[in-house]
Amino acid sequence: MELLEGIKTRKTFRGFTDKKVSKEIIQEILLDGHMAPSASNMQPWNFHVLTGTALSELCAKIEVFHKTKRVTYNSAKDKRIPEIYMQRRKKLFRELKPVISSLGDKNRQFIESGSLRFYDAPVVIFITTDCVLPENKLMDIGMAAENIMLSAHARGLATCAIAYTLIYSEPIRTSLNLQVNTETVLSISLGYPDKNLPVNTFRSSREKLKSMIFWKGF
Ligand SMILES: Cc1cc2nc3c(=O)[nH]c(=O)nc-3n(C[C@H](O)[C@H](O)[C@H](O)COP(=O)(O)O)c2cc1C
Repeated sequence: MELLEGIKTRKTFRGFTDKKVSKEIIQEILLDGHMAPSASNMQPWNFHVLTGTALSELCAKIEVFHKTKRVTYNSAKDKRIPEIYMQRRKKLFRELKPVISSLGDKNRQFIESGSLRFYDAPVVIFITTDCVLPENKLMDIGMAAENIMLSAHARGLATCAIAYTLIYSEPIRTSLNLQVNTETVLSISLGYPDKNLPVNTFRSSREKLKSMIFWKGF
């Protein structure tokens, strides 16, 4: 797949088939992730790849935590998210509604429960980093994550970046055997797309780019 075509056609999939993803393909995808640029070339990422029993055991642990120690997702860490971004978030849910309601589920419930199960993907990649590193490690990890998602897309695989589930850091920490100074930044569900699911026909919209560019000196 041509690079520019891949950038334009990548999208999030929220449903996967049971088809196994070979370790060789995952290895190649992670190599593409690893080729991402990073500040001072520090490469502040580690990839923990879970499948099979390791993954289902983690999902079961997360479910128990969710039922017994329910944590509320607070993406803004108690700060007030400006209205413009709240509106964009609401728009996503509004746009998703028709494809989700056909599944007989409610919007937020679908995203919440789906994310907690990593949308039943056969493979989940957890990207972890060292807590001690400066904040720009998050940019580096974002770049590696996009490389991973584009690489998967180019190979006919589907991905969904998932941050929601990280509210249950404890079971993730124990399942991945993380050291004290290690934190999980993002998880990425990986698998072959279930093209029969209505939700997978969905494509998110974008604001007009014009309102986000400020030209000077042209
Ligand atoms: C850092 C990050 C975290 C995300 N977390 C979730 C999540 O927890 N659950 C989910 O369903 N989608 C999640 N997404 C997917 C976004 O909702 C999606 O990327 C966005 O709506 C744009 O759609 P697109 O990826 O199809 O272009 C996340 C994406 C990113 C980049």
